[in-house]
Amino acid sequence: MDPRLQTMVDQLAAQSGVAVALLDMTALTSDGGHSECRGIAGRPPFGGADTRDGFADVDGDPDPDRFVGILDAISAMGFAQAYKRRTHAALAVRPGSVLLDIGCGTGEDVLDLARLVGPSGRVVGVDRSATVIAEARRRAGQTDLPAAFAVGDAGALPFPDGGFDGCRFDRVLHHLDDPARAVAEAVRVARPGGRVVAFEPDFETAVVEAADRALTRRLLNRFCDGFRQGWMGRRVPALFRAAGLRDLAVEPVTVLLTDYAQGNTILALEGTVGRAVAEGVVAPEEGDRWLAELRAASAAGRFFGAVTCFLVSGRTPC
Ligand SMILES: C[S@@+](CC[C@H](N)C(=O)[O-])C[C@H]1O[C@@H](n2cnc3c(N)ncnc32)[C@H](O)[C@@H]1O
Repeated sequence: MDPRLQTMVDQLAAQSGVAVALLDMTALTSDGGHSECRGIAGRPPFGGADTRDGFADVDGDPDPDRFVGILDAISAMGFAQAYKRRTHAALAVRPGSVLLDIGCGTGEDVLDLARLVGPSGRVVGVDRSATVIAEARRRAGQTDLPAAFAVGDAGALPFPDGGFDGCRFDRVLHHLDDPARAVAEAVRVARPGGRVVAFEPDFETAVVEAADRALTRRLLNRFCDGFRQGWMGRRVPALFRAAGLRDLAVEPVTVLLTDYAQGNTILALEGTVGRAVAEGVVAPEEGDRWLAELRAASAAGRFFGAVTCFLVSGRTPC
C-alpha cells in the first residue's frame, strides 16, 4: 500500500469533520490472531451460529475476528468471484479511476480494483468495523497497490463531495438501518456522471428443497426476517431512483447452493434453526429433523438451495 495515499485519505477524513478512527499501521503488522479463523472454501469457520446480521456491528460481537473467516469463506466460493467481476464491469473501471468500496470488509475487492486502476488510479475502502479494516490494511500492506482504508459509517462518509469516479456496495445495504441515507452518501461523494453500484441479496428468494413445505417456509421466513433489510435486493432500484441516479441497469444473479456447507454459509441453516427454536417458531425436534434431512440430502449429492441477488448500477446526474 502506498503510504502517501493512506495519508491523503487520512487528511480527507479529517477535513470532512466526520470522526473516523484510522488505524495505527504498527498495530497491523502481526496477524492479529486472524489466521485460525479463516475458512476453507464452502466450509464455514463457525459452528452454525447465525452470524448473518452480526455484520451490522462486527466490533460489537464477542468474537469479531470470526467475521474475517466468514468473508473469506464466501469470497472463495465460485459464484462470488464471478459476480464481483460483474460489479467491476458495472463500475466501468479503467486505468486511473478513483473508486470507493463502501462496507469493504477485509478489502479483497479494493485490492482487486486497485490492480485494475493501476498506479495512476486509487481505490479506497471504508467500513464501520475497525476489526475488518485492520485486516484490510494488513493485507494491503503486503502489496504496493494504490489502496487505502478508513473506518467510517456508510451513512456519514468521511469524504468530500464528488471525489470518486465510482462507488460500490457489495452485500452491505441489507445490514443497514437506513440504506437510503447510505445511497445518498454514495451519490454525494461520486462525481457528476459517476457510477454507483450495489450487489444485494433478496433473502425472501431463498429456496431449499425439503420434504416439509410448511416448516421450510417458516424457517426461511425467519431467516429473511432476521436481517434489517431482508428484501434489500428488490428495493435497490427504487432507492437508486429516489437518490437521483439515472440510466439504471438491473441484473438478477441467482446463486446455486449444491451442498449443506454452502447452504449453511449463505443461508445460515443451523443458526436459523437455533433462533427459530429459541423463539418458539419451530419445535426443537422439527428443527433437528429438517437439518438432518438436509445433511442426508447433501451426503447423497442431492442438496438443492438457491438465493437471488440483484446487481444494480446507476449514474449520477451530470
Ligand atoms: C457481508 S459484509 C461484506 C463485505 C465486503 N463488501 C465483501 O463483499 O466481502 C458487510 C460489511 O458491511 C460493513 N458494514 C455494516 N454496517 C456498516 C455501516 N453502517 N457502514 C459501513 N460499513 C458497514 C460490515 O462491517 C461488513 O464488513
